[in-house]
Amino acid sequence: MAGSSSARIGIFGAGYVGLVTGACLAKLGHSVVVRDVLPERIEALRAGEPPFFEPGLADLLAQNSERLTFTLDADEATVGADFIFVCVGTPPTYGGDADLSAVWAVLDELPQRDTRAILVMKSTVPVGTGEKVREALGARGLVQFGYVSNPEFLAEGSAVRDFSRPDRIVVGAFSESDGDAIAALYEPIEAPVVRTDVSSAEMVKLASNAFLATRISFINEIANVCEVTGADVAEVARGMGLDHRIGQYFLAAGIGYGGSCFPKDVSALKQLAGNSGYQFQLLTAVIEVNELQKRRVVGKLERHLGRLRGKTIALLGLAYKANTSDLREASSLVLASRLLAEGAEVRVWDPVADATSVLSGVTFSDTVLDAVQGADAAVIVTEWPELRELTQPEFRDAMRRAIIVDGRNLLDPELARAAGFAYEGIGRPSSELGALPEAEEREPELNR
Ligand code: NAD
Ligand code: UGA
Repeated sequence: MAGSSSARIGIFGAGYVGLVTGACLAKLGHSVVVRDVLPERIEALRAGEPPFFEPGLADLLAQNSERLTFTLDADEATVGADFIFVCVGTPPTYGGDADLSAVWAVLDELPQRDTRAILVMKSTVPVGTGEKVREALGARGLVQFGYVSNPEFLAEGSAVRDFSRPDRIVVGAFSESDGDAIAALYEPIEAPVVRTDVSSAEMVKLASNAFLATRISFINEIANVCEVTGADVAEVARGMGLDHRIGQYFLAAGIGYGGSCFPKDVSALKQLAGNSGYQFQLLTAVIEVNELQKRRVVGKLERHLGRLRGKTIALLGLAYKANTSDLREASSLVLASRLLAEGAEVRVWDPVADATSVLSGVTFSDTVLDAVQGADAAVIVTEWPELRELTQPEFRDAMRRAIIVDGRNLLDPELARAAGFAYEGIGRPSSELGALPEAEEREPELNR
């Protein structure tokens, strides 16, 4: 097997994790074959087009194209490979467990071989999966395969940077030498390497995501209490975050966490615990708080507008966070359907996310100005930097009522109010209704 100098690497799954891992390993000098089951994805990649928006990925793929191949053929990615990375999706089942069918499909495609290869599990899987995989490999007589759990911690929007500069690299192995081989592969990357057993590595991943989600639900509840007691959650988070035992990250209150990972991984850990006989009550609360948080915007709109039937609401941003086009579990989708159910007319805008196949009954706008034209309120759903301009007079003048509900606390409340808007953030004081000039209704400027 090749050491860290130049290895042959097969990657299963050309998604966020697989493509970023493949491109970064190619950049380190390895020869990488990425396999996916979606023909259109492989065709696009062969033509040099990443299948989704991820900052820095297109350049990285182009710069390392000599060492990167894309294929639909499993054998191309496995025959002769020293390492086989599993980066396929592990979406939730209806029961809330992780659906491992794609992981098992990869295992079914592993060929018999004479030389040793290491299967590297990057997909997020329940604790105990490594043991099951080891048994399955043994049962099929695939004795040349080692197995290492090497969970991934990158976040979308900063995936390339996160892979190249991780806080830690976790390597859980059954055998010392397999763990050594994976650690050697990552040697050029400066980060502490946590060498541990397979089950603990699997749990590090689930517990990390669940802990981050818990922080978000915690600060969102603090925000909700701030609203009824007159404190400002942004100030509270600043004061809390300076305690080094707490830290400043993941204390941004908002409209709830979304994305392809926190919702599914929190639920998967809760189910894993439940299936093993332990009721993880804290996670039940984390999930419930998050679901309620997505809907609180409706109450804020009603506070200003009364019943929403017939009102026009502009949802600004659809992606589950900025710098990604990913719409999986985005709060925008829940919010749009709630508003439609209340009888509102919903306009939506996002600079990169294409929601045409997942949202119906809404009007898609190409620009922020189009979205807010004649609107009764604008809701900041995703913290896209361009939305900082929303307090400019052209937007205020275009709206029927100059109301902003800032689901991400993106704007400065004082500046927004000074610019003539009624402004509602999350966990920040809102002024008395009617006493404010910004609560005035204004006639829309037509034909803009
Ligand atoms: P994704 O949905 O973007 O991509 C998964 C890819 O795997 C798809 O292109 C799919 O077609 C492909 N696939 C399915 N079956 C296959 C097979 N048999 N052979 C080859 N390819 C196959 O998923 P993702 O976001 O990259 O996540 C992958 C895993 O990594 C998940 O377990 C996820 O929880 C975990 N993870 C994701 C992130 C993230 O930010 N997206 C971060 C850390 C960990
Ligand atoms: C998250 C983790 O941050 C990664 O470490 C992990 O690898 C990944 O999940 C995964 O396992 O897939 P990601 O979902 O891409 O990454 O994005 P985050 O930046 O963590 O944001 C997740 C959600 O939480 C977003 O909806 C975001 O808006 C929300 N969030 C985040 C808050 O509401 N407040 C915060 O303070 C931080």
